[in-house]
Amino acid sequence: MGTSGNEQYSAQRSTAADQQTASAWSNPLRDPRDLRMPRVAGPCSLVIFGVTGDLAKKKLLPAVYDLANRGLLPAGFGLIGFGRRQWDNEEFANFAKENMKAHCRTPFNEKTWEHLHDGMRFVTGTFDDSEAFTRLSDTVSELDRDRGTRGNHAFYMSVPPRDFPLVSKQLADSGLSHSTEGAWRRVIIEKPFGHDLASAKELDRVVSEVFEPDSVFRIDHYLGKETVQNLLALRFANTMFEPVWNANYVSHVQITMAEDIGIGGRAGYYDGIGAARDVIQNHLIQLMALTAMEEPVSFSAGDLTAEKRKVLSAVRLPKNLAEHTARGQYSAGWQGSDKVLGYLDEKGISRDSTTETYAAIRLDVDTRRWAGVPFYLRTGKRLGKRVTEIAVAFKPAPHLPFETTATRELGANAVVIRVQPDEGVTIRFGAKVPGTAMEVRDVSMDFSYGRSFTEASPEAYERLILDVLLGDPPLFPTTEEVNLSWNILDPIEDYWSTLGQPQPYRAGTWGPAQADEMLARDGNHWRMP
Ligand code: BG6
Repeated sequence: MGTSGNEQYSAQRSTAADQQTASAWSNPLRDPRDLRMPRVAGPCSLVIFGVTGDLAKKKLLPAVYDLANRGLLPAGFGLIGFGRRQWDNEEFANFAKENMKAHCRTPFNEKTWEHLHDGMRFVTGTFDDSEAFTRLSDTVSELDRDRGTRGNHAFYMSVPPRDFPLVSKQLADSGLSHSTEGAWRRVIIEKPFGHDLASAKELDRVVSEVFEPDSVFRIDHYLGKETVQNLLALRFANTMFEPVWNANYVSHVQITMAEDIGIGGRAGYYDGIGAARDVIQNHLIQLMALTAMEEPVSFSAGDLTAEKRKVLSAVRLPKNLAEHTARGQYSAGWQGSDKVLGYLDEKGISRDSTTETYAAIRLDVDTRRWAGVPFYLRTGKRLGKRVTEIAVAFKPAPHLPFETTATRELGANAVVIRVQPDEGVTIRFGAKVPGTAMEVRDVSMDFSYGRSFTEASPEAYERLILDVLLGDPPLFPTTEEVNLSWNILDPIEDYWSTLGQPQPYRAGTWGPAQADEMLARDGNHWRMP
């Protein structure tokens, strides 16, 4: 069966949009009205390995649905699940529907569902079964024939890194990994990208033996968050921030990713990995790079990564890791009105686990712009609340022409980029208290996405999956960035591995005392988000 007239029309239109989008990133002079045109993927399919896992259920499948519902997928889009279950296509479709319905962001619409449903296939098999990959290859060809996917296929490895080599090899052996003239093959890799620098390099070697470098998309889902991209808008679309965004005015930067949840059912993944490898090596170091980097020549992938790489190469670790890093492990406590277990009592965790669930580190960036400005990165599970923010704290005014008592309640000026929840930006400064002679106190000015725009922000995975299907790479960390990040973290992990048990902190609090002491040594304190 060939493609219908409609499908062909949609495919041609989307190819044009595809090209427009790619150039939108690289050409700052293009007509700005083009930016409002929807970016629609051309003919293609997405193959998900690990489709029954948590990530696929809660994020990937719902993101595919939301993209379809927003009209951003091609008419003949194919979705292939690969897994051990003995499912036929219909059973897979039922599973996908249930999870899409449960976690989609946009309203569930039967028409959208029917379109997606027609392109769904399931291939039963294990990663070591080459016949299963032959069946996958047949399924992909069937989609090309029946749905007009034209040989364009993306493979999402939502599987543990230990399986990457085998899956990559099987894709290569079954002829699925190579792009040809006019037909692309892409692979999407989920973090963790290795366990340290050596394993990251090995992983990269294995994947790049099979896929061309520009066909590999490493997902750091924080880069797909709207507010993270807004950081670039805030810094580079305005005149008022950049002049003060440097060591002359900034006293320090605090990047916080706090979660109120524990490790849930992820003991197998988390234990032995810990908070720093789980999110500092990727999300927080990326946020730091975007906060600290110079203005890129354009927002093309090459120009962006060039600036991020410079920052990551200029990072200096503290000489005394004992004084400038902190690690903790949650003990039993209360999360709101719920009594929660300590980490060591969680299912699947051994009683003597030394894995940290809280990590804080100080990094310095040895450049003229940031000389002497500490960047504090902290993250933890079971903290007071879920919040991610970047707080740029400014130095005090060089002179205060007031009575000292008048400025007792004046803190440091700050720009706080709230990544989530309640996405937006807060600026904190001093204002006169009404009615007093001259008393100055901290006040906040607030921009909130929810109040300023009617459009709701897409989920990070929607943006990133669409970018893969469009072949648009700026929001994906390069292998150099990944390696530089491990270079920063490895000495800290090596040091921590000599220490034994992390300091306990009660669930629902803001982390171990060590972390407060770490900042107090520099004369600073953590913000209470
Ligand atoms: C993941 C980590 O990368 O990010 C998880 O592996 C963490 O441990 C999650 O819970 C948080 O993502 P978000 O988007 O909810 O902040």
